[in-house]
Amino acid sequence: MKYISFIICLFLLLSGCSRKTPRYVIGVSQCSDDEWRDKMNNEILREALFYEGTEVEIRTVYDDNQKQIEDIRYFIDKGVDLLIVSPNQAAPITPIVEEVFDQQIPVIIVDRKILSEKYTAYVSADNYAIGQAVGNYIVSYLKGKGNIIELTGLSGSTPAIDRHQGFMSVISEYPGIRLLAVEDGEWLKEVAENQTYTLLNRFLSVDLIFAQNDRMASGAYLAAKQQGREQKITFIEIDALPEEGYGVDQILQGTLDATFIYPTGGDRVMQIAMNILQGKEYEKENMLYTAVVDRTNARVMKLQTNHIQELDSKIEFLNTRMNHYLDRFASQQLFLYGAAIILLLLATLFLLVWKAYHVKNRMNKELFNRNEEITVQKEQLEK
Ligand code: FRU
Repeated sequence: MKYISFIICLFLLLSGCSRKTPRYVIGVSQCSDDEWRDKMNNEILREALFYEGTEVEIRTVYDDNQKQIEDIRYFIDKGVDLLIVSPNQAAPITPIVEEVFDQQIPVIIVDRKILSEKYTAYVSADNYAIGQAVGNYIVSYLKGKGNIIELTGLSGSTPAIDRHQGFMSVISEYPGIRLLAVEDGEWLKEVAENQTYTLLNRFLSVDLIFAQNDRMASGAYLAAKQQGREQKITFIEIDALPEEGYGVDQILQGTLDATFIYPTGGDRVMQIAMNILQGKEYEKENMLYTAVVDRTNARVMKLQTNHIQELDSKIEFLNTRMNHYLDRFASQQLFLYGAAIILLLLATLFLLVWKAYHVKNRMNKELFNRNEEITVQKEQLEK
């Protein structure tokens, strides 16, 4: 019984050793659920594969400040080692991020900003500069003359504000360019479609629609198509998503005209997170770069991103394979330890039996000798 409980204890100890407890737990709070954020999340998860013992939990809300605050509170209660936040709107999310920062939990802000300096690092492309780049592109495209509609992202989210201001800083210099209307499309396709439909009824001469993301541009295109005006209008947007059916594809299909890359940068975010956690050097402000994709370079862009996607899926495949081998190695190791212990016990048992056998033999011999002696004594007495 004693031996059996000893074996059980040893097994429990060994299996306990093989269970992995993560060294770092990282929480990601996303403000929205869409293809752009899916790409960022995948990049974060893929990059995390390179850091052993790192667990990433992603929570997503649907453009809802209150729910995002609840998610961030969940991560605080969970005791994450670092938090990555993409705030829905700046003002409502600022106090909770400040709370995280005050609790000494490193917090990285991505894509959208808060109204405070209380964060550990910020990673995004410069939205004001993108707005300017769009402005310059449009000025040269329209040769300084034309009627424009702008569809902005959700009001109160910083990229919407910055992109608009950057854009205005350029086009306001050109009196030939008339900004007919600026409408809040909330970053959403359906909202942008409805807004555009109404605006096109109001303005009969529209040369170009600038939508602050690909999704809203698709909505605007659909609205124009319903009125048979899609051929007369140029559509310019931001994001340049290379995935099937999004921005770059739409340029190739000829529905949209130009899109500006808004990098998701999930891999970069993860690298900065790990630098912070491992006490390495990092920058507080990290800027990603933009570039225009139009009919002149969309094909090259598509080919290159296809190739990158292939490599990415190979990395994921290799990782799954490696995990499989590591699991197999761990269970084989466990089996080996178990077998060694059983062998040891058997050897001990054999030793004990062998010893008992010898003791018994010796005692038998002694008994026999004693018997002999007694018999001899008995015979002598009888004589
Ligand atoms: C994704 C998105 C992008 C846009 C960015 C701005 O949720 O709407 O399309 O470029 O957010 O924060």
